[in-house]
Amino acid sequence: MAANETKTQQTLSPREQAIRQLKVKGYLDQDGKPMGRRQFMVSLALAWATFAAALGGLVTILSAFIIPRVDFTRIESFKVGAPGNFPSKTVNEDFKSSGKFWIVNDGQKIFALSVVCTHLGCTPNWMSNESKFKCPCHGSGFTMQGKNFEGPAPTWLRRYEVSLADDGQIVVNKGRLFFEEKGEFEDPRSYIAV
Ligand code: FES
Repeated sequence: MAANETKTQQTLSPREQAIRQLKVKGYLDQDGKPMGRRQFMVSLALAWATFAAALGGLVTILSAFIIPRVDFTRIESFKVGAPGNFPSKTVNEDFKSSGKFWIVNDGQKIFALSVVCTHLGCTPNWMSNESKFKCPCHGSGFTMQGKNFEGPAPTWLRRYEVSLADDGQIVVNKGRLFFEEKGEFEDPRSYIAV
């Protein structure tokens, strides 16, 4: 038995698979030579097989660029400090870049507010003099609590799960989002009472 005939279907290249099929159908002899008048059709079939293989490779390369290499299953948590580090009626921006959230103490609750605008995903800015978040992209405004009150944003900003660690620090769990429109801001995991 010839060595190439011991290859499994999985180890054959697309061209080799095409040649095998053409031999089975009688278009090629056992030496791989075209059979008479069928030569043109054989050449055409092999050209198509080569083209398909090249196209498949191109798609694979392109998809590596198009599909982000992000592990969405990775859950991030942040220890942000004790509740006493967040004075009443303040927005802490220490984690705006590294964690993509603000720590807000609105006088009644401490919560971790997502920095993702609920319109099209830009990052709003905290305007302490106006006590509101303002999105630079299309002008949406949000209160300190994250409520949308101006511009096109359709909903409140989201909140992340918060809890207290054994050492008394607040832990923000980015693996769990809370949505106001689902009534989830009443869930005690979405805030720490002060
Ligand atoms: S993305 Fe924020 S207002 Fe459009």
